[in-house]
Amino acid sequence: MKKIKVGILGATGMVGQRFIQLLENHPWFEISALAASERSAGKTYQESMVGRWKLETPIPKDVRGMEVKECTPDLDCGVVFSALDSSVAGPVEEKFACAGYVVSSNSKNHRMDDDVPLLIPEINGDHLEIISAQKKRIGSNGFIVTNPNCSTIGLVMGVAPLHKKYGVTKIVVTTMQALSGAGYPGVASLDILDNVVPYIGGEEDKVETEPQKILGTVKNRRFVMADMLISASCNRVNVKDGHLETVSVEMKAKPSREELIATLETYNPLRGLDLPFAPPQPIVVSEENDRPQPRFDRDEGKGMACVVGRIRKCSVLDYKFLVLSHNTIRGAAGAAILNAEYMKVKGYVE
Ligand SMILES: NC(=O)c1ccc[n+]([C@@H]2O[C@H](COP(=O)([O-])OP(=O)(O)OC[C@H]3O[C@@H](n4cnc5c(N)ncnc54)[C@H](OP(=O)(O)O)[C@@H]3O)[C@@H](O)[C@H]2O)c1
Repeated sequence: MKKIKVGILGATGMVGQRFIQLLENHPWFEISALAASERSAGKTYQESMVGRWKLETPIPKDVRGMEVKECTPDLDCGVVFSALDSSVAGPVEEKFACAGYVVSSNSKNHRMDDDVPLLIPEINGDHLEIISAQKKRIGSNGFIVTNPNCSTIGLVMGVAPLHKKYGVTKIVVTTMQALSGAGYPGVASLDILDNVVPYIGGEEDKVETEPQKILGTVKNRRFVMADMLISASCNRVNVKDGHLETVSVEMKAKPSREELIATLETYNPLRGLDLPFAPPQPIVVSEENDRPQPRFDRDEGKGMACVVGRIRKCSVLDYKFLVLSHNTIRGAAGAAILNAEYMKVKGYVE
């Protein structure tokens, strides 16, 4: 099979380098273009990353000598993955979509737009039907699809199977978010060493609004938001990768703990599609009292699975549990790659 050429916008950042790492040897996609700000443009990728490559594996050979370009829509590819800083992502992604590119974005800018899917293929693949409305509006064959905020994704992965079966009405969530979620250099060491920072700008709003769109429906080319209340408290903790969240849910139906666990463990709508980045089991339930833990569990399913643990009765709502997801893989680059794979098998990407 001839591979599809893909570009990475924001290729030099924390998420951008994750894209480069994850796309090495991808069976369907090959990196043919890298772009970032004018600070990096004109240099080879290796030159632009001196002191900035923060992953345990080396920079893949194929991209080391590639020139970093500016983020203008003249890149040699049909699909772009966007890991751009949100201060610039909005208009840049629009330009690419208008020029005919498929944009699979990590940034917050277009997530809540009326005709942009906020996609998690395991949950709301049918939302892709809104793309025809977007293409019509912008008058292009290109379009934007987004993946959720890195904390939203773990929460929604844990909640979606319960919502589909039992009807979730209320959620209270407290996040403990890793440092890599703040980009590089991110949080100053003297702010986070020996500390927890109980504020992440804009984060609670995203965690309280994105799930309703993801768990909602598309009717007559419009999103209908899911009817549920969410209260979120977001904290930055001294962990490198992996967002851990405590979640309490209220549901219309009242399953037993065993039923609830079976619902989570058997949830796998992508089974049979053979998507390279789809984990064999999207939600892994841990029965150990002290798990999930970021250091030990974030790489479950190559970082694409969510680990749910400590499922127990809640004396205020119905059940409470923990959910862990890898923020730069399932919560960012891996999510956008899975979205592109899903769009390919559904005929939206050629
Ligand atoms: N980190 C996570 O866990 C995570 C999870 C989900 C979503 N996100 C979202 O993903 C995006 C990237 O996050 P990150 O953590 O990778 O940030 P980051 O490390 O700060 O990287 C930002 C990237 O944007 C580029 N950039 C900045 N200003 C630019 C400009 N004026 N024109 C073109 N490119 C520009 C930077 O290029 P230079 O190097 O040339 O400056 C860099 O490649 C953000 O929107 C973030 O909210 C992050």
